[in-house]
Formats: sequence, C-alpha cells, structure tokens
Amino acid sequence: MKGPTLAIIGGSGLYEMGWLEDAEEVSVATPYGLPSDAILRGRVRDGDVTVLFIPRHGRGHRFSPSTINYRANVCALKMLGATHVLSVSAVGSLREEIAPGSLVVVDQFIDHTRHRVSTFFDEGVVAHVGFADPVCPILADAVHHIATEESIPVHRGGTYVCIEGPQFSTRAESMVYRGWGAHVIGMTNMPEAKLAREAELSYATLALVTDYDCWRADTEAVNIDAVIDVLNRNVGHARNVAQRLARKLPDVTTSPAQSALKRAIITAPKLMAP
Ligand code: ADE
Repeated sequence: MKGPTLAIIGGSGLYEMGWLEDAEEVSVATPYGLPSDAILRGRVRDGDVTVLFIPRHGRGHRFSPSTINYRANVCALKMLGATHVLSVSAVGSLREEIAPGSLVVVDQFIDHTRHRVSTFFDEGVVAHVGFADPVCPILADAVHHIATEESIPVHRGGTYVCIEGPQFSTRAESMVYRGWGAHVIGMTNMPEAKLAREAELSYATLALVTDYDCWRADTEAVNIDAVIDVLNRNVGHARNVAQRLARKLPDVTTSPAQSALKRAIITAPKLMAP
C-alpha cells in the first residue's frame, strides 16, 4: 500500500515550502476543472511521508475566496494520494482571549457562505456524509500537540464561521457571529472542509489569528494591511508546525473521516435494493 500523504493547503502568506526534499511541481487536471495552481510534491528527510502543497489562492494570490475552485483543489489532492489535509488559514478573532499572533486548532465550523459549490455529489450520485464532527480529531490533536511543544500560543478547539467575503464584516455582523458562539472568522474553510470529508480525507485547520475583526469598541477595525503584517510575522509558526507534522504524521486509519462514504451514498444501492 502507498504510504501516508500529507496535503498542506497554504493560505495567504504561506507560499514557500523550502524544507521539502526532491520537490517537483505536478499539474493536475480534474473533472471539476483546474486547481488553484500546480501542486508541489516532495518528502521530508528520513521519512516515508509524501507531502503535497497547494497555495489556496494560487501563487501571486490570484483567486478570491469566492472564486477558488475548492472542488478541483480537494479532488487534485485526492488524486495525488492525499490521506491527511492540513489547512492553514488566516482568521480574525471573535474572542478577547484569542489574541492576534496565536493559533487555533478549530473543531467546528459555521458555513455562512452563499455562492460556492459545496459538494461532489450534485449529479447522478447522491450522498449525505456525516459532518457533526467536521475535523479529524487524531490530526487536530497531533497539530495541537506539536504547537504546544514548540511553545507557540495555541488554542485547542473553537468554532470557525466562514463568511463569503471578500469584504470584511460589519460591526453588527461581527456581534451576531459572537452571539452564535463562533470563536474565529475566515473566508476559506468552507466548502473546503466539507469536500475533504466527502473525499474521505482527514482534515484539520491550523488557523492563524491576524486581527480582532471589528467587534471591539476600542480597537481599529480589521484592514488588509494589518492582516498581512501579522501574517508575515507569524507564518513561520505555521511552517514549523507543518514541517514537524510531516515528520510525525499520526496514523488516521481509524478516523471516521477515512470511511465517511461507507453509509453515505443513497443512490441506487440503498433505494433500489430488494
Ligand atoms: N481573515 C483574516 N481576518 C479576517 C476577518 N476579520 N474576517 C474574515 N476573514 C479574515
């Protein structure tokens, strides 16, 4: 059997993967169209783990959160043998205790997007995968453990509300999301996490907190300069965690994510069986 393969979906600021050995660029065409860019494939020294890297917005940041072809990205990673997905994502904080510069290993999502295709199963085959626990707990634990060992400020668990963007939220919206119980806010993890589940991939998000959005009375509202500045100063943390994760990739064969389709497809087999 092929060895484990860690796919890293790089968010804003994470484009560089100099630590990969024997790296090659692979261009993949999928039934859903082209992914955001060529995928970098390499390995870590002294390990049997293959690493794939795709920049979510394309190199040079060409795709907005709404125009990213999430299906092609996830499909391409699956086609290249991915088993694990680490999604690195910039987020705003909706909680006082989650400070800019820290990391959050989220464990829940609220999908507040409006214009994105969010399933592979929209034609011919109907499937309803379980998504109550949208993140692979084994992978998330490993990510959190590594960040803690590296003494990086990190929070385990939290709810990520995904907005459509590309505009940031109004103050009223930000207060609503806080009222919903969300901890962080971003624009890209939906439908990515849903599609990863449909593709039976173990998915975890490493969220890099860049700002306090706009709910705080005495703090300037989020702006893109501040986001990029904090991102550039902290993206090394994400790179560090990803690199160490590739060296110590947990076994996820028992993760529910890896068999998500087992009881999910209802076309033909279940409804037509005698
Ligand atoms: N990404 C980083 N900060 C954000 C914010 N405040 N809202 C939405 N997406 C973000």
